[in-house]
Amino acid sequence: MKSIAAIHRSYGKADEVVHAETIDIPNPQKGQAIVKLLRAVINPSDLGMIGGSYGRLRPLPAVAGREGVGEVVELGPDTEYPKVGSIVRLPPEPGAWTQYQVCQAGELVEVPKGLPLDMCAMAFINPPTALCILDNFGELGEGDWFIQNGAGSALGYFAVQMCKARGIKTVNMLRNAEKKRSELESIGADLVVDEAEFNPKAVKEKTGGKLKLGLNQIGGESVSNMIKAMGDSATVVTIGGMVGDPIRFPTRFLIFNDLALRGFWWDKWQRTHSKDRVKAVYGKIFEMIGNGTLKAPVDSVFKLEDIQKALSRAMENSRSGKVMIEF
Ligand SMILES: NC(=O)c1ccc[n+]([C@@H]2O[C@H](COP(=O)([O-])OP(=O)(O)OC[C@H]3O[C@@H](n4cnc5c(N)ncnc54)[C@H](OP(=O)(O)O)[C@@H]3O)[C@@H](O)[C@H]2O)c1
Repeated sequence: MKSIAAIHRSYGKADEVVHAETIDIPNPQKGQAIVKLLRAVINPSDLGMIGGSYGRLRPLPAVAGREGVGEVVELGPDTEYPKVGSIVRLPPEPGAWTQYQVCQAGELVEVPKGLPLDMCAMAFINPPTALCILDNFGELGEGDWFIQNGAGSALGYFAVQMCKARGIKTVNMLRNAEKKRSELESIGADLVVDEAEFNPKAVKEKTGGKLKLGLNQIGGESVSNMIKAMGDSATVVTIGGMVGDPIRFPTRFLIFNDLALRGFWWDKWQRTHSKDRVKAVYGKIFEMIGNGTLKAPVDSVFKLEDIQKALSRAMENSRSGKVMIEF
């Protein structure tokens, strides 16, 4: 069987090094399934993996992409599960952006029926990361405050929605606050502040010293400002560095305010926790998608053949949501 796949043979700028190519897909053997791509999503980590700067790289040549959903279209001999027609997570390895992929049927993660396809395609990286951060770094209860920079990202939306569901208030820093203010407020954001106008003292006052947990997606000046607004014995967790600068932490806050600086990598969390724990996290995410807690906007949908155009769009600033890929 022939398949179109998004392949890169060197590390570099994603919209230059990734090309749609035709590859051969072998017949599925016993215990294997063929999954057809329905919807995939482009994340910043894909750009890092293709660019060669990510924490884990694929040997070249590589099929790019890590997240999305597909349909089981064929099973190997004596293989019954998941049934043909089931919707499953696109196996992230060796690479998700391929029309067809042969994989181990027993390792496929099935997606509950009846959920919106775009949301399911985004369910496996950003929502679990937001959930793990809220569950694993300090105990935030009703009336506590959470702060994040880069709040206009998909992950930022999920964090706001999860906080809202738990009665946790949120401060949301972003570089284009006016563009996304009303959308963020409509999903439950309490404070939306432009990163350029952020006043740590004012935010500390407004939150009554109850800012317990910070999420740093961006780096640069905004995380220094975030730290200055935190309450005593707070934690700031870094998950991304979109600015690309080394982060400058104001020393006195570590000493006098007992601030803890931590990092989190979902990729590693999945590899270091049991399959049942990971499955339980996905279960909670699907529940939140099903009951309408989690929603994130889609900017555009491109055909897999147009992968370079999709990647160019994903690399642009001020998108209005995720760039998706379909076949
Ligand atoms: N460590 C982990 O396990 C983990 C897991 C998931 C995600 N992440 C990280 O979480 C972050 C968000 O991921 P995502 O998929 O939700 O992102 P996304 O939806 O693709 O959005 C990226 C966001 O970053 C903002 N941004 C980019 N460069 C910026 C800059 N220099 N200054 C301020 N804002 C900037 C963009 O703002 P504009 O709208 O203004 O362009 C956009 O809102 C990324 O850093 C990602 O790598 C980490």
